[in-house]
This record gives sequence, structure tokens and C-alpha cells, in this order.
Amino acid sequence: MTSLPYPYTIRVDAEDKVRGKPIYAADDNRPGLLHAALAVSTIAKGRITDIDTQAASAVHGVRLVLTHKTMGAAKSAGFIMGGGYGFQSLQPMLSPAIAYRGQPIALVAAETLEQAVESAHLVRARYAEEPFGVSLDAPGVEVVHQADTPLKNFIPEIASGDADQALSKAPVKIDAVFKAPPQHQNPMELIASVAEWRGNKLTVHEGTQNAEAVRHGVATALGIAPEQVEVISPYLGGGFGQKNSLQMQTLLAAVAARETGRPVKLVVPRATLFHAASFRPESRHHIRLGAERTGKMLAAIHEVDAQTSRHDLFPGEYTATSSRLYGFGSFRGVERLVRTDVQTPGYMRAPFEHPACFAMECCVDELAYSLGQDPVALRLANDTDTDVATGLPFSSRYLAECLKRGAELFGWTRRSMAPRSMRAKDGSAIGWGVAVGAYPGLTTPAVAHLKADEDGCVVISIGGHEMGQGIRTSLANTVSRKLGVLPEKVRAVIGDTRAAPQHLTAGSWGTASAIPAAEDAADAMLMALAEMSPAGIADRTPAEILKAAGRRTLEVEVQRKPPGQPDEILGRLRAGLPSVAGPVYRSHVTFSYIAHFVEVVIEPGTRRIRVPRVVSVADCGRVISPRTAASQVRGGVVWGIGAALRESSEVDPRYGGFLNADLADYVLPVNADIGSIDVEFIDKPDPVFNRSGVKGLGEVAMTGVAPAIANAVFHATGRRLRDLPVRIDHLL
Ligand code: MOS
Repeated sequence: MTSLPYPYTIRVDAEDKVRGKPIYAADDNRPGLLHAALAVSTIAKGRITDIDTQAASAVHGVRLVLTHKTMGAAKSAGFIMGGGYGFQSLQPMLSPAIAYRGQPIALVAAETLEQAVESAHLVRARYAEEPFGVSLDAPGVEVVHQADTPLKNFIPEIASGDADQALSKAPVKIDAVFKAPPQHQNPMELIASVAEWRGNKLTVHEGTQNAEAVRHGVATALGIAPEQVEVISPYLGGGFGQKNSLQMQTLLAAVAARETGRPVKLVVPRATLFHAASFRPESRHHIRLGAERTGKMLAAIHEVDAQTSRHDLFPGEYTATSSRLYGFGSFRGVERLVRTDVQTPGYMRAPFEHPACFAMECCVDELAYSLGQDPVALRLANDTDTDVATGLPFSSRYLAECLKRGAELFGWTRRSMAPRSMRAKDGSAIGWGVAVGAYPGLTTPAVAHLKADEDGCVVISIGGHEMGQGIRTSLANTVSRKLGVLPEKVRAVIGDTRAAPQHLTAGSWGTASAIPAAEDAADAMLMALAEMSPAGIADRTPAEILKAAGRRTLEVEVQRKPPGQPDEILGRLRAGLPSVAGPVYRSHVTFSYIAHFVEVVIEPGTRRIRVPRVVSVADCGRVISPRTAASQVRGGVVWGIGAALRESSEVDPRYGGFLNADLADYVLPVNADIGSIDVEFIDKPDPVFNRSGVKGLGEVAMTGVAPAIANAVFHATGRRLRDLPVRIDHLL
């Protein structure tokens, strides 16, 4: 692990977690709590013609049965990518229309969870069914060119040079189609809300990546003022993009709590979650890559078809990252959206970047083999410090360093190039593969409030959400280092709309947004301390200075916005709307990078694919918190192994919905599937990006893992497998 020149704490919340402190919303057990359960649609599309709740209401302990007929005056809070607050524009139970299988049709609130579940099972609905399509190639789906929609205004198509002409003239060409399946996040903490009213004030306890959107979204949906709603989300048991906006269950819990006059807890079970929350959409990638015989890349064309819902256009941003991998002489990206009858898909860790890097990096490996060049050398030869899409310089790019250091750690020079040329003693085929990944450098505005106390405690209240990625630890490290107090004395109040505006935490922008703002706040505090201390502040803690000045506390507040954003952005921040800048800034473009080196071992008889060894080297700017950073990368690699070899949400074309909606059938890697994962960081600051020199890490970690594995499988077997996940039966 990289050693850092400053002291750091390892993980400030570790003890609460291993002690099982009830820090998650689903663990809430306040007095008077009612438990809620959902009944869901058994058809894939159509409308409810009749709903019978008599038997459900008769169950002992049931206090309320809600359906679209009894929801009262509520409306949709709108789609987060369309100016609203929800993960989709459709709020279930506001009308009899059914847009997808598994859509909630009724909520029951009862004294116990068992009573609620029994009652929900007794809700009977009759439907009028309509034809539907749930996958890219289903009959009746509708294909939309993103550039023909309003999305073009904030997601321009990537176009640089005349890629078609350059490709037609290229002496070496690769032309291939790749497929990535729909996938569902399965965080350990299910989506869950506890809603409680006190008079006309509503408090929502919910694990969310976007407390401010939940607050404003529920207020919009109920037609009340945002000041009447507070959202408290100190921890998430995993977010990964699934909890990044208002979920459908929050409004239902809030209405149930209002109608019963009791706090209501609604935990959405795993099977329902597969249909009730967003997921990674199915996508198909057609890539054409052209190069000189020397290996110099001349052109790339990347065309994407990605799934969306009928009711929303979930934007595609796949080519924004594939175009940033190399100095392609020219590039053309095409994003198409395919409307299908599902809930609106959404952001799942490296939502676009993982499939985009899979397709492009498999093509680059194919190019290396068609040229007879080493895959690392080919990548190094096509490195660039200028962004092809805009012509701007990258603020920092240490991808070549990642490749070189990774190759050294992995022992890449001992690899023989020919497929099927490396074997283990037991006859297993060994494959060594490499691929790189990238993720846009995004950042958001933040308000930071810092309070020092004469007893030595420091509290930082700031926008941010702890999903397990370690933002509390990063904040504690930063404030402790700047103010010279022990990290244990620093408390971070985050995920709480009472403390500071809570911008959506996603897109790997958490550290690059919160840490510079925390440093600004610490500077403001140092200045204020200096003013009250004529003797100077060197070698004195804030508590000592406060005591000497006869003060109990000192508070400062700062606002910070990304370069190039207008002042009005702070209004958007306070309104719970996405206020993200990047990766293109006025003078530069920012991306994080990673290189993965992977060994696969394939048993000769069963063709079982194992991954005993991964080496990953990341360029995320300066590393703030080494332990949580390395954990982030390991988690991303594990997820990449899952994406390459295991995970797929299976669709049944006859019934709609997702079939394998539980953790027995939605196959994830387990401990026995994971070998050694060595992680290193380049750890060079990016001072152009922000004062702290930090870039994002959470998502770049996963990008490039799947193609490194697919490339290693090719090296082991000579077979190019272009559909994820790669399975044993593909190798038989
Ligand atoms: Mo992340 S998929 O941007 O929450």
C-alpha cells in the first residue's frame, strides 16, 4: 500500500458496524411502528379493472389497505433526469395503469410484518392485459436516437474528425458486436423507508444517496412545502446507484403514516426490488476500430443500443468514456435508446463505463492480436494527453503509469503471446489478460459548516452520503489534518437535510466535492482562530485557542462550486436537483483511470473459469484515505468478476419482469470465487481539478475488469467471447 506523508485514521465507523449498531433505516424499531407490505402486479402491461381488498382488510392487526383508489391527492415527483426527483416519472398506485410486471398495486400497514405480508397476499386484482416487450430485440419495442431527443442538450454526441472516412482507409480493421445483460444492484440493505408525522411535519428515515431529492420529491408528491419534510440518512448498506433518487416506496410509506397517524416502516423485499428500483439496462455495442499496421489508431466508431422504459428516456453516455481511452485519430459515437416495458433503468456502478470499456477494450485486444503486438505495448503507443472529443488537455492522466506499474507487479513479461500457450501442471489452461478503464471526473457544489468546541470536538456538517465507501473517514482525515485534532474527535454530519444541503452522492464525485469544501471550511476556521488569538495559532489546537479567548464554540460556513458553474447552481443544490459539473471544463477534461491485469485458470474437463489473481493500479489523483480507497478498488474488482462471469437478470419474454429475482438465482461471486487482488495507486495529485488534488475512484475501480477477464479467456482458449456474462457453456 502507498504510504502517505500525513497521519490518517483507518475507518471511523468500523466499530459501530461490527457492533451491529442500528444505523440503517430498515433496522428502525421506534415505538408505535406499523409494518407495511406491498402487493404487486402479476401482468407485464395493461390496467387494473378491479381490485378487491376485502379479505386483505379482514386480517387481524391490519390498520390500512391503500390502493390507487384510496391514495388521495398525490402526484408523481417527476423523473430525476427530466427535472424531477424520482428514479422514474411513474409513481405506482396513482392510477390503474400497469407499465411493468412487479409494479406495486397495494400497500398494507399492520401491527406486525407477518400480518402485513399475509394481508398483502390476499389483495386480488383483475386486469386488462396488453402486449409488451422487455428486451432490446423484443417485438414492439421502440428505438429512439438520443440525438433526436431533448437529451442532446446536455449529452452531445461524441464526434471528432471524419471517423467513417478514416476507418475506410485504415489498413487494419476490427468490427465486432458486444452484449451486456440487464443487471440489478443487490445491496445488503434493501430499499426501505420509515415515515413519521408530527403535526404537519414529516420525517423520513431512509438509506438514500440523495436525501435532498427525497425531501423535495416527497414534498412535491404530497403538495406540501419542502420545509415540512426532513430526511435523515446517516448510513446506507450499499447504494451503487440504486438509491440515488426518490424511490416509489417513500411516498407510499408517507401516505400510510399520515392516514394511520402512526410511524410506518416499509422494507421492499428482494424479489420486489428487482422490479421496484432501477437497474443496469441491457446494452449492445457495435464497435469498428481502424489502425495503421504500426498499431497507431486512426478511427473508432462506437454505436450503442441501450434499454430504457416506455415512460422515460434514461440517457446513454457510453461513448463519453470509450472515446477517452486512447488517442483515436477520429471518433464517432452513437447512442440509441430502446423503449421497453420495464421500470426505468438507472445508474448502477460504472453504469455506462463498465459495458463501454468492455466492448472497446476487447476490440483493442483483438487489434493487438491481429497486429501481433503486445497488448500493453499497443496501449502505451496509443496514449494521449489531449482529449480526442474536445481537443482540450486532460487535467491529469497517469494511465501509462498504471499500465507500466501493473505490468511490473503482475510479471507481465513472463507471458507468452500465443493463445493456449500457457498451462498449469494439472493441465488447466492459463490465460493472462489486460484492460484499462476510465471514469469521468465529476464534481458538485457543496455547503460546509464547521463547528469547533472548547471540549476538543469538531463537527463538520456537509452534503454527502455514507454508502460504505468511506466518506466519513475521508472527512475525518481531512479536517483532522488541517486543524491538528485527532480524527476520532471529528464528527461528520452527512445525509441529513437538517445539517446542510444534500446533493446526490453518485458518479464518484463524493470525495472531489466534499473534501475541497471541507478544506475551505477548515481554512476559514483557521483564519477565524487566528483573529481571536493575538499570540498566534501555531502548535495549538482549536480547543486551546477557544479556551484562551474565553469562547465555548466557533462556527464557520463556506460554499463551494465547481469552476465554470453559475452562482444559481447553489439554488439548484438547495432544491435537491442534480448540479454536476464535468468531465469537460473550460480549460481541461478530467478522467480517472485504472489498469487491470488478470489471470484466469480454466479446468480442462469442466471448463470452469477461475480468477486466482488480479493486479489493479489506479490513477484517482491524490489518495485521501488509503484503507477505504483500496477497499473501493477491491470491491470494484469483485463486482467486475461478477459482471464478467456471473451476473445477469434473466428476462422471461412470455411474462415480462425479471425471473431470477433473488440471491439464490441472481448469481454473485462469493468469497471462494475471489483470489488475490493487489491494489496500488499512482497517488499523484491533480491540482488542476481541485485544490485537494483528488479525482473519483468508486466507479473507475470496476471499469476494465470484465474485458481483462474476457481477454484472458481468449489467451487461455483462443475463443473470443463477446456476450456477458462469459459462461462455462460458452467454452464447451
Ligand atoms: Mo453511482 S452508479 O453514480 O450511484
